[in-house]
Amino acid sequence: MRNWILAVGMAVAIGGAGAAIAQDVIADRRAGLKNAGEQFQAIKAVSDARGDLRPVAAQIDELIAFFRGLPARFPEGSGTGNTRALPAIWSDRAGFEQANANLITQLTALRALAAAGDNAAFPAAFNQTGAACGACHRVNRAR
Ligand code: HEC
Repeated sequence: MRNWILAVGMAVAIGGAGAAIAQDVIADRRAGLKNAGEQFQAIKAVSDARGDLRPVAAQIDELIAFFRGLPARFPEGSGTGNTRALPAIWSDRAGFEQANANLITQLTALRALAAAGDNAAFPAAFNQTGAACGACHRVNRAR
């Protein structure tokens, strides 16, 4: 009897855990993306002030590392709940991953300009990078 109650309790706990894990994945990726957005704005502020871009290269490295891991933060089953993720992420996975790869290409170019302290070329490259964020959002993120 005691074992039976334990077994039922465990089955309920495991069933609930799937949904709870998805919500953790969502909360975690949203916090990561929020932080990426803040980093991105901080980089723009340095550029706008025509400040020293060389220390920014390390910040861009962190963004590149974060976005390399972004697709893994969207496992199957994490499209419902407290999220703006759209079904296109899973119905056109190749498109989603291509949009992410495009961003990483832009970030890599931006990083080179930061490391070179190239304040003249940086703003246009920054805008192109922002466009790569937006290209993914248009298709994969609800407004
Ligand atoms: C490959 C697709 C993709 C790329 C590239 C991308 N994002 Fe997003 N972003 C998303 C999706 C999908 C969401 C919604 C996540 C959710 O609600 O679960 C999101 C959400 C966000 C959020 C809101 C986080 C919150 O508070 O919920 C911010 C801020 C953000 N992205 C910034 C950026 C910036 C800045 C870039 C470029 C440097 C970028 N994103 C590139 C797909 C992408």
